[in-house]
Amino acid sequence: MRFGQRRALEGVHLVARPGVVTAVTGPSGAGKSTLLWAVAGALTGAAVEGSVRVGGTTVRPIGGRSATLALGIGLIPQGNGLASVLTARENCLVPLLDTGVAPREAAERVSAALAAVGLEESGGHLIEELSGGQQQRVAVARALAARNAVLLADEPTSELDHVNRERVLELLHDLAGAGCTVLMATHDPEAAAQAAAEVHLDEGHVVSTR
Ligand SMILES: Nc1ncnc2c1ncn2[C@@H]1O[C@H](COP(=O)(O)OP(=O)(O)OP(=O)(O)O)[C@@H](O)[C@H]1O
Ligand SMILES: [Mg+2]
Repeated sequence: MRFGQRRALEGVHLVARPGVVTAVTGPSGAGKSTLLWAVAGALTGAAVEGSVRVGGTTVRPIGGRSATLALGIGLIPQGNGLASVLTARENCLVPLLDTGVAPREAAERVSAALAAVGLEESGGHLIEELSGGQQQRVAVARALAARNAVLLADEPTSELDHVNRERVLELLHDLAGAGCTVLMATHDPEAAAQAAAEVHLDEGHVVSTR
């Protein structure tokens, strides 16, 4: 993966197993977000080389979010990627309705997901009216409601206080426990330590795994 002449990721091979959380760690600029975006198919063009396999299906070349969405790959981007002029609830609902989930079921899933992140009272608030940590929890709720087979979470606890950080980590571990493949980029050593597996990146290379 190149940005201009700069190689942001090179020779990275990664296997993330269903059933556990895999942490992606490394210093700022190591390539964690680039890796997650590449797996999500959200980076396109000739600068992206490689393939992504989910179960028996391989996406090659990677690039094109529609192919990876069809494989059930969800992304919680760093910075949340929420629409600020929609409410918390609408941000969670739109992608579900987009993918053909029936309105009643979508509404139920969203209510449950907002409750799971402690935001049952805040669904009607515009994103721009919420704090950074509340917004981050909306982004987690949106991913929970989507019920993805694979969840790529880019620093999902960076804005959270202790209680909410624990809550979000527990939700991610619960998702994994239910069979989801969770890949979580994090700067938080405790969050990384709780993960069953870890891939440590530096300067676009995998330098260690456990
Ligand atoms: N759109 C872009 N254009 C040019 N360079 C980019 C772009 N996105 C990322 N990079 C570069 O690629 C490298 C890896 O960036 P990346 O965002 O993947 O790092 P990161 O490990 O997620 O860092 P952080 O912990 O700060 O989020 C960096 O050197 C960054 O400057
Ligand atoms: Mg990043």
